[in-house]
Amino acid sequence: MTTIDKIRELKRERNAVILAHYYVDDEVQAIADYVGDSFYLSKIAAKEEAEVILFCGVSFMGESAKILSPQKTVIMPDMQADCPMAHMADIEKIQEMRDKYEDLAVVCYINSTAELKTYSDVCVTSSNALKIVKALPNRHIYFIPDENLGRYVASQVPEKTFIFNDGFCHVHKSIAAENVRAAKEAHPHAPILVHPECTPDVTEMADYIGSTSGIIDFATASEAQEFIICTEMGVLYELKQKNPGKRFYSVGHRQFCPNMKRITLEKVADALEHMANTVEMEEDVRLRANKPLERMLELGS
Ligand code: 13P
Ligand code: SF4
Repeated sequence: MTTIDKIRELKRERNAVILAHYYVDDEVQAIADYVGDSFYLSKIAAKEEAEVILFCGVSFMGESAKILSPQKTVIMPDMQADCPMAHMADIEKIQEMRDKYEDLAVVCYINSTAELKTYSDVCVTSSNALKIVKALPNRHIYFIPDENLGRYVASQVPEKTFIFNDGFCHVHKSIAAENVRAAKEAHPHAPILVHPECTPDVTEMADYIGSTSGIIDFATASEAQEFIICTEMGVLYELKQKNPGKRFYSVGHRQFCPNMKRITLEKVADALEHMANTVEMEEDVRLRANKPLERMLELGS
């Protein structure tokens, strides 16, 4: 029996559903029931009815699924797959900002630990951050943990005052402006599609800025035939599936998230077979982290 057949059989036996982010390997995306960006996957996790959610992604994704769907068993193929940025904010600094600004909203990118979420007012993803920040009544925004996404949102919402935190995604930070310029010189007709976790000198050159789904939708709807892609290269799988005739160019050799790439078909099969790597959390933490996530679902929809 192949690993894929084994996964299919185990999925039926366990009444499990597989969610996968666009950055995991192609073969893992291919066996998933749902593939998408962080916002889409959190909405699916909140409403899906299967007993077991197997999350092919990094820790904060599995945690968010558990927070939104506590009655389900959430399992991860690899517990070591963690997003370094999810840890890059400081509880003391949050408190300091709350003391300093009376009308502060702590806006927390979903790429964050459950603990950081418990200190936040609302969560956002790259596809709903603009909409949610604009809808908040607060004038002062403390944006954690990602500085680049925070700066991008601030550039689009000039009526609010932002305080930034110095977290970053090492994958997007390594996409260098000079490489993007070189790619544009080599392919002058290709629009530059950029994820907002990239640094401002890269977002400045973009023809389109958006989440992984946003980038895929833009390229699919566009009449252009070639594109320069400034995000993790896992998106190529869906881009090529939807646009077999179009060409997509990377801008460097480091556009791979090593944590997302830890997820393999073998680990998926193993996790389902042994029902191992379950996401657990104290109910008190879950309840407090649930508030900003639920607010995101409410304001982001
Ligand atoms: P989105 O899929 O929401 O654009 O998120 C990108 C990301 O970095 C996930 O880790
Ligand atoms: Fe974290 Fe960046 Fe990897 Fe996304 S691509 S999981 S933000 S390290």
